[in-house]
Amino acid sequence: MRSFIACLPKAELHLHIEGTFEPELMFAIAKRNNIGLPYDSVEALKAAYDFADLQDFLNLYYQGMKVLREEPDFADLTWAYLKRAHADNVRHTEIFFDPQGHTQRGVPFETALNGIWRALKKGERELGLTSKLIMCFLRDLPEADAERTLDTALAHKDRIAGIGLDSAEVGHPPSKFERVFARARDAGFLCVAHAGEEGPADYVREALDLLHVARIDHGNRALDDEDLVARLVRERVPLTVCPLSNLRLRVVAEAKAHPLKTMLDKGLVVTVNSDDPAYFGGYVNDNYLAMQEALSLTKEEIVTLARNSFEAAFLSREEKNAQLARLDTYAGAL
Ligand code: ADE
Ligand code: ZN
Repeated sequence: MRSFIACLPKAELHLHIEGTFEPELMFAIAKRNNIGLPYDSVEALKAAYDFADLQDFLNLYYQGMKVLREEPDFADLTWAYLKRAHADNVRHTEIFFDPQGHTQRGVPFETALNGIWRALKKGERELGLTSKLIMCFLRDLPEADAERTLDTALAHKDRIAGIGLDSAEVGHPPSKFERVFARARDAGFLCVAHAGEEGPADYVREALDLLHVARIDHGNRALDDEDLVARLVRERVPLTVCPLSNLRLRVVAEAKAHPLKTMLDKGLVVTVNSDDPAYFGGYVNDNYLAMQEALSLTKEEIVTLARNSFEAAFLSREEKNAQLARLDTYAGAL
């Protein structure tokens, strides 16, 4: 199973580039930028990665990204992720970035965008790994901040495929961002939103009805609401599920209690993703493997997850078919 998952062609659709910041690279970039870190060593930093909940993680996540200041920092971060994803046979990736996490600190939007973009293009050229970029609004900031961020993004529409919504969920429902998402949709951006990670099933419904998202990021709590599940199945709304994230952020108590197989059995279009792999102890193949082992997933179920990852991607029908043909060839050898 380990080698079957390792060689399986797949897409990754829920990945925060700032969440791929490995401690070793963080220390190296901090040094070159003359920025101190509140930890003496890589080991001391890693020891702090024991989270009580989402907010507890976000505190370290925002602290970590503070050392990213120059374009090459963002390029190095992104390139390190792409090499790692390529090793996991990720053929296509749709990555989030959090511009407000940088502009708030005085780092220009374009510094982050240019650095990330440069590495993404290099990934396509040198690794054959295609990508899309999704800009997330921080939902714990006011909608007016998101509006300003969207204004800036409009000048870079050629490089930003979609808009997402992340950060502290509870108390910041999708309805708070209804107007800015309407404007983003009018401008032609594809939309996604984190919903139902810690927040209730109602936030998932709001993301569909008010933000008109094409995918739900996480969506675990949708299972609390049978009618909502039936709708997600009927409308084939993909859920980008992040198993190791759910365990580390205590959204799910233990691997055997993870709802991934239940979601598959209900006919939901679920995908497996790594969220913030540097913080949660594994990249995408580690997520597949943890679920395969805990839930005894069959090879057919693993292939369904990979098929869903391409179907749910922001790719043209032709691009999806090309990826799926490669997957079918691989699966045909079962
Ligand atoms: N930002 C980075 N990772 C996140 C997650 N899992 N949920 C919400 N916001 C995030
Ligand atoms: Zn996420």
